Amino acid sequence: MKIRYSTESDSTAIEGIHTSAFGRHQGEEIVELVKDLLEDETAKPLLSLVAETDGKLVGHILFTVARIQPEDQEVSIRILAPLGVLSDFQCQGVGGMLIREGLKELEESGVDLVFVLGHPDYYPKFGFQTASLLGFQAPYPVPSEHADAWMVQELNAGVIGSVKGKVQCSKVLNQPQHWRD
Ligand SMILES: CC(C)(COP(=O)(O)OP(=O)(O)OC[C@H]1O[C@@H](n2cnc3c(N)ncnc32)[C@H](O)[C@@H]1OP(=O)(O)O)[C@@H](O)C(=O)NCCC(=O)NCCS
Repeated sequence: MKIRYSTESDSTAIEGIHTSAFGRHQGEEIVELVKDLLEDETAKPLLSLVAETDGKLVGHILFTVARIQPEDQEVSIRILAPLGVLSDFQCQGVGGMLIREGLKELEESGVDLVFVLGHPDYYPKFGFQTASLLGFQAPYPVPSEHADAWMVQELNAGVIGSVKGKVQCSKVLNQPQHWRD
């Protein structure tokens, strides 16, 4: 299994991954989201990685830029969204490899915090913690019964505790429908 940067020629395979991972209905929304995010100037710099095995793409992860309000805080942050693995390749460590490799790259490039809205049983395996308990609000309110789905991880020790506020993501991701569940 190889993790590498995605290229423009991967776009059809990436669409196939998210359609397979999220199912036809939600998959369509995610495919549109990825297309739009890749063109969103406010989402850059972004990190788009694919997992490839035997020449076949089986997973995709995208990290885009976010800011924190109040904006006078010196901090570099990203949001992880989306992550998808082809259904036949799930639960074989592909998602974990994409997350770990992405976090490593981001840490090396000086990113301080990474946020995700996702499965609270999955992301803590890779070091994410409930963000609301650490002083970070999501761009749109997360219903209290799903509060633990809004998570953060620090890549620069000591940033959590010294920074607080509301996360503001890229223009495309900053739409209420992406924060509903
Ligand atoms: C969620 C997803 C990205 C995980 O990737 P993966 O390659 O299947 O997962 P990994 O092999 O890295 O990790 C497997 C572990 O995660 C768990 N896991 C997988 N999907 C999970 C989910 N939706 N919720 C909670 N745990 C999950 C497995 O039970 C397994 O646990 P174990 O290590 O204790 O046995 C993938 O299953 C997927 O694409 N799902 C559909 C799309 C989706 O929900 N994306 C995430 C949006 S937040």
